[in-house]
Amino acid sequence: MKKLIGSKKIKTVVFISGTGSNLKSLINFSKTKKSPISIDLIISNTSKATGLKYASQFKIKKKIFNFEKNEVTEKNILLFLKKEKINFVCLAGFMKILSNNFIKKFKGKIINIHPSLLPKYKGLHTHERAIENKEKFTGCTVHYVTGKLDSGKIIMQAKVKILAKDNSFSLAKKVLKKEHKLYSDSISKIFN
Ligand code: GRF
Repeated sequence: MKKLIGSKKIKTVVFISGTGSNLKSLINFSKTKKSPISIDLIISNTSKATGLKYASQFKIKKKIFNFEKNEVTEKNILLFLKKEKINFVCLAGFMKILSNNFIKKFKGKIINIHPSLLPKYKGLHTHERAIENKEKFTGCTVHYVTGKLDSGKIIMQAKVKILAKDNSFSLAKKVLKKEHKLYSDSISKIFN
């Protein structure tokens, strides 16, 4: 996807459910001259997501949608994104599964970061499973979102060595550090 020459940055929403460390690094990236995107909206499925603090810190609009009735919620989100003229969607630790219908509306414009070297270890508890299987390496993947969980086309990956002393916490910490750079590198790759 190419950025239009001379156009403004692409209006982007980040979906979160938790700490939002990827969100924070995306915000920092978006403020650089080389970033093709601006972060204009943060959406969470829960008011408990501590990453929501970055909305006030960086003066970004935030909105919480509770997913009790998914279909209705998604409809409302789509309306809101349209109103806010959002053109690109980044999922960053978002714990709800979006429907095919929603994803289709943003075809090729919705990406996710996952803490494993996909196609290995889709879903949750990736680090535990990688250690249990005595993998030598793990890592993270940025990929397009499709209707199939953690299965869309891979944009970029970063590798992390698993040491004998690693547990799921130490590994998560190392992988997360890689994620922060990988996410913005992937966005640069998409638009350049
Ligand atoms: C990251 O490991 C991400 O890959 C996974 O959930 C975690 C979110 O971390 N999907 P944070 O909220 O960005 O700090």
